[in-house]
Amino acid sequence: MRIDIISVVPKLMESFFAHSILKRGQEAGHVQVVLHDLRDYSIQKQKQVDDYAFGGGAGMVLGIETIARCIRQLQSERSYDEIIYMTPDGERFDQKIANQLSLKGNLLMLCGHYKGIDERVREHFITREISIGDYVLSGGELAAAVCADAIIRLLPGVLNDETSALTDSFQDNLLAPPVYTRPAEFEGMRVPDILLSGHEANIIEWRFEQSIARTKARRPDLLDNYQ
Ligand code: ADE
Repeated sequence: MRIDIISVVPKLMESFFAHSILKRGQEAGHVQVVLHDLRDYSIQKQKQVDDYAFGGGAGMVLGIETIARCIRQLQSERSYDEIIYMTPDGERFDQKIANQLSLKGNLLMLCGHYKGIDERVREHFITREISIGDYVLSGGELAAAVCADAIIRLLPGVLNDETSALTDSFQDNLLAPPVYTRPAEFEGMRVPDILLSGHEANIIEWRFEQSIARTKARRPDLLDNYQ
């Protein structure tokens, strides 16, 4: 899979993709993440990418000319399965969308900034609009990083068997069970005996029960969609 991300502050995301699982996923060839600075596509001498909103009002708007140049250049190099605009008024990102997008070959993500982007970009270039929650961030960079992370960890080979994404919370609409590591006892707090018992079948059953109990207590809404 290849993920291209367009931003006016790509540096914000550089270190995020240069560490841990995301770094290893790229090094092992499972995914390629390419960050693009929108300013590189500006037709203005000063590399300006935004302008005042027609009709007045506070805030600058990212203009269509630069964005169109950037997207068209990338489209001339490969075709994209989705061109995604990160925006608080998009559809709410969840595990189901992460699963869907993880099956695609090439994704292009556009991060908004300032007061937004010219509406014509959304109408003519964007195929999907995604929000990571009902709050407004200063830009779409963190949102793009969140989505890319959730997608990349699902790609075959990125996680090893032990950390398999199949056991993540939400993967079957259940929250994940509690986990423990050494020491088995800390200041009188003991790890549940069953986890030390070595009975694999019992442990699987215990984890499932814990998942159900945790989901009932914290996110009963998820049980409506439990498969
Ligand atoms: N850009 C600003 N806020 C956002 C949000 N909540 N989700 C996605 N992109 C955004």
